[in-house]
Amino acid sequence: MQNHSGTSLQERIYLDHNATTPHSPVLKQRWSELYEVSGNPSSIHQDSRITKTWLRETRQKFADYLNCSTLELIFNSGASEGNSSILKSVWNFKKDSKPEMLISSVEHPSVIKTAEYLETMGAIIHWIPVARSGQIDLAFIKSKLSEKTSLVSVMFANNETGTIFPIKEISTLAHGAGALMHSDCVQMLGKYDLQAHELRLKEFDLDYATFSAHKFYALSGTGVVYVKKNSPWVSLVHGGGQERSRRGGTENVLGIASLGLVMEEVKNSSVKVNEMFRLRNLMEAQILKEISRCTVTAAEYPRLSNTSSLVIQDIDGETLLMSLDLKGFAVSTGAACSSGNPEPSPVLLMMGLSRAEAQSSLRISLGWSTTEAQVQLFILTLKEVVEKLRSINLSAKDYENVSR
Ligand SMILES: Cc1ncc(COP(=O)(O)O)c(C=O)c1O
Repeated sequence: MQNHSGTSLQERIYLDHNATTPHSPVLKQRWSELYEVSGNPSSIHQDSRITKTWLRETRQKFADYLNCSTLELIFNSGASEGNSSILKSVWNFKKDSKPEMLISSVEHPSVIKTAEYLETMGAIIHWIPVARSGQIDLAFIKSKLSEKTSLVSVMFANNETGTIFPIKEISTLAHGAGALMHSDCVQMLGKYDLQAHELRLKEFDLDYATFSAHKFYALSGTGVVYVKKNSPWVSLVHGGGQERSRRGGTENVLGIASLGLVMEEVKNSSVKVNEMFRLRNLMEAQILKEISRCTVTAAEYPRLSNTSSLVIQDIDGETLLMSLDLKGFAVSTGAACSSGNPEPSPVLLMMGLSRAEAQSSLRISLGWSTTEAQVQLFILTLKEVVEKLRSINLSAKDYENVSR
């Protein structure tokens, strides 16, 4: 099979796993079997039995993993819906007595844009600074928390830089002030080894958490929200009583089944996570050695095993991305939802990078099937492309000087 640029699709090397992950081989094996089934889980007759079972089994597997009750999980369309629903739910219930929220300034747009919308409704949002080092400002959180704070929202790990935030410490602070705690956990599963840290998600003491199946090798259009018992919740979608009337609409049964199928792999992903960590570190060390004027953003901060955000000076990130794409490599300049947008990444700007630095950024995110040979080929190609682009830049500058 050939793609538009004439490269064989088989030869392509995918290094953009924070945008989305390829479907797990387990899904590929079971796909024809899933495809045969089409019952509506809300129906009473026998044809609904299998899809009803899928829902029940996936919910149980997820609950076991998080160490929570199945009643605390709601299936939906993904993390954007989950994040929007949570912020709006808290606002609806708490706006009169607790109109303030603390939200990290490097959240995904589904949190940032919802918070900005709530600002237009009268909410007071305190944007928590995150430094260039990756460090979140805990002193700021302490100084702004009050009896007026309804919610603190800080993601588990950032999708662009991979930085992992001290969620347990922040939820303790939030609860100490009587506020609820939400964490967007989209980038955690399959990239962070909870078991190695002797943790299960419940131990972060969250009131809300969001997940998205397409970030851990299952189908897109499927999400899960964890809502701790008795936490405020307003259904964003009203309908036929699905999900205990907390999210209307016939469930995405294939997506939910896919989620159930990959959970076993997620639970046992320690070896894969360690391997991504090894490859990521090897890649960064070699890139820093071989490419001049290149830095890794938040290199010293705890980061996801698979993510690397580089600043390569005197290079336009979009041009670099396109050049690498033509050579068969899929990488990103930042969040997938902003691709095609010439503006530099707001996350990197918020962290204090200059516009020029943000515009020279490249995100590489490895996956479970990334091999050392692929990483080596990527480094070689990156070096070659960067040298070429820099030499073109240099001759363009010479030309400008001559013609002045
Ligand atoms: C951290 C984070 N939160 C939320 C989302 C949105 O997830 P979904 O695509 O399921 O709406 C993404 C996707 O890029 C993400 O990386």
